[in-house]
Amino acid sequence: MFQRLREDIDCILERDPAAKSRWEVLTCYPGLHALFIHRRAHFFYRHGWYWLARFISQLGRWLTQIEIHPGAKIGRGVFIDHGAGVVIGETAEIGDYCTIYQGVTLGGTSLNGGKRHPTLAEGVVVGAGAKVLGPFTVHKGARIGSNAVVTREVPAGATAVGIPARIIQAEDAKLREEQAARMGFSAYAVTQTADDPLSIALHGLIDHAVTQDQQLEKIIAALDKAGICVDNQPCDENFNAQQLNKLVD
Ligand SMILES: CC(C)(COP(=O)(O)OP(=O)(O)OC[C@H]1O[C@@H](n2cnc3c(N)ncnc32)[C@H](O)[C@@H]1OP(=O)(O)O)[C@@H](O)C(=O)NCCC(=O)NCCS
Repeated sequence: MFQRLREDIDCILERDPAAKSRWEVLTCYPGLHALFIHRRAHFFYRHGWYWLARFISQLGRWLTQIEIHPGAKIGRGVFIDHGAGVVIGETAEIGDYCTIYQGVTLGGTSLNGGKRHPTLAEGVVVGAGAKVLGPFTVHKGARIGSNAVVTREVPAGATAVGIPARIIQAEDAKLREEQAARMGFSAYAVTQTADDPLSIALHGLIDHAVTQDQQLEKIIAALDKAGICVDNQPCDENFNAQQLNKLVD
């Protein structure tokens, strides 16, 4: 029990620059208290003592303003920062090292029994006031923007913002793929998961050069048609965007 508490305190010290000491975290962090109480409630829930489990969870709610249903499964190193107004439903699952800010709801959209609340995979961050509603998964390392309303699956590492939430990284990738398709090659395939900023910048420059080449060709053709001759120097070495993209990746 104390080992787990120490681990939770260390996680908070790592993730909250405002936390100054273990003593401060132990005495002044409602998220820590809520999880401590939840573990007791969850124990009784697992053993079928539903009323007692629910009562303990309510005590936790009175003390911390964080409502965690005793049935919710919560992993290690989870940090509920500030915490006021957080509501976590019965069939919600929270993976290790997730961070949840105040006002977050992990809720359901159906009155049917069974799995109806979301699953957060490892390392997910849910911004203040976000509502994550339904029995889908927010995959590893994804981030939910503050005040977003998320009603569908979020891919690993993606960022979801707005109401209803849109996946900003995936949309960027889609635009890029469309542009690549128009240009006749697919840089997308090699950059989809790249997170090296230098590589992303170089891919961007190569794409841009290809677009400009194509536009110049069209302008020269139009000028030719209009009877204006442009001294078009033949280029020995063809600009091979696909090859360059492979080199950069
Ligand atoms: C969503 C979030 C993780 C994105 O962070 P980021 O990767 O640094 O992204 P950026 O700030 O570069 O924003 C990317 C785009 O999303 C938009 N955006 C960011 N957060 C948003 C939000 N919560 N709602 C709607 N749009 C948002 C930005 O305006 C930007 O749009 P643009 O590309 O049109 O300019 C972050 O903004 C967030 O909401 N974090 C939660 C923090 C929190 O709750 N803190 C509470 C502390 S008490």
